[in-house]
Amino acid sequence: MDDRWHDLESASGLSIARDVSLRRFSSLGIGGFAAGAATVENEKTLEKLLTAASSAKIPVKMIGGGTNVVFPDTGFPGLLVRLGDGFKKIEIEGTTLRAGAAVHLTALITRSLEAGLSGVEKLAGVPGSLGGAIYQNSGARDFEISLSVGSVTFWDIARKTLRTWPREKLQFKYRESVFQTTPSVILSAELELKSAEREKLMEEVNTRMKHRAQTQPTGRSIGCIFKNPGGRSAGQMIEEAGLKGRRVGGIAVSDIHGNFFLNDGRATFGDFEELVGLVRTEVEKKFGMSLELEVEIVREKEEASNVGKGAPEKSSGGAFRENAENSPLRRWKISGEGNFL
Ligand code: EPU
Repeated sequence: MDDRWHDLESASGLSIARDVSLRRFSSLGIGGFAAGAATVENEKTLEKLLTAASSAKIPVKMIGGGTNVVFPDTGFPGLLVRLGDGFKKIEIEGTTLRAGAAVHLTALITRSLEAGLSGVEKLAGVPGSLGGAIYQNSGARDFEISLSVGSVTFWDIARKTLRTWPREKLQFKYRESVFQTTPSVILSAELELKSAEREKLMEEVNTRMKHRAQTQPTGRSIGCIFKNPGGRSAGQMIEEAGLKGRRVGGIAVSDIHGNFFLNDGRATFGDFEELVGLVRTEVEKKFGMSLELEVEIVREKEEASNVGKGAPEKSSGGAFRENAENSPLRRWKISGEGNFL
């Protein structure tokens, strides 16, 4: 093992897995390898790991549920970090729910439903972790998680300190938060919920799940690829541009929902990039509007754990790794399952 990785292990007391397939950590199932990967269970270890990585000049990328990130075939040359079970606690006091960033949204919804608390049930069916949902202000139709966030506790990478910021400081907008521009690691959040009848909550969950089942495809995808521009539906625009079913290599626009791309198991990042470009060009031709990516492309040169969004760059043509792990086909691959090691 090269010295940098050894130093990282000594400084953090963690075992670092090497050459980890990124296909396991993105629900789209494409991507090369991360040079290293580790799971942290507490704040102290996280601090040690980030400090050591920074001294060793190893770029770090945090990963949540992996349901909104796409990695190039050339992989990620740094360290992929995931929060483990130590960040999965949920505590409820009155109508305030405090949860660790690694809590899956489904667990969050179930617990609040059991406690008769309203405020997250409209996220039913949205995959991913609480940290990821806050990072990109996840939502569906008339709801986004920022509406229920009271405060967020995070590790400020630049200042090397823990901070708790109230919602007002979090710069929430449609699919945006302050965490996309501040090198930081979301650790937990306090959600301000309201008392509600459990039956009503259950009804809402069922309605949302049914709507999804009827309007969204199953298969290997990363959810919506583009943001809805100016309140319009990107999926509808893609459909009206005649792009449903359009294929590039192993990836195609879903026949069911235009804003979903499906990987048949053979897709490369190059295929994905090409399809993104093709759809953008056609939609721009028809509507005079440029679609903005909703998913995050993790570039090779990631410098800070949470930073790095926007349009895909042309890939440098790294070959698809045939020996990469083949994940079973299912609707949402909840990344982060299993151990890195
Ligand atoms: N529509 C079409 N053709 C399509 C897709 C949609 O005509 O191919 C029409 C629908 O019939 C409907 C309208 O567009 O009239 C809106 O469609 P939908 O309810 O499916 O919602 P959406 O705006 O396409 C948003 C979120 C989804 C979320 C659904 C929940 C964004 C970019 N998308 O989609 O979020 O699941 O609402 O209904 O905000 C995601 O974030 O990854 C995601 C999938």
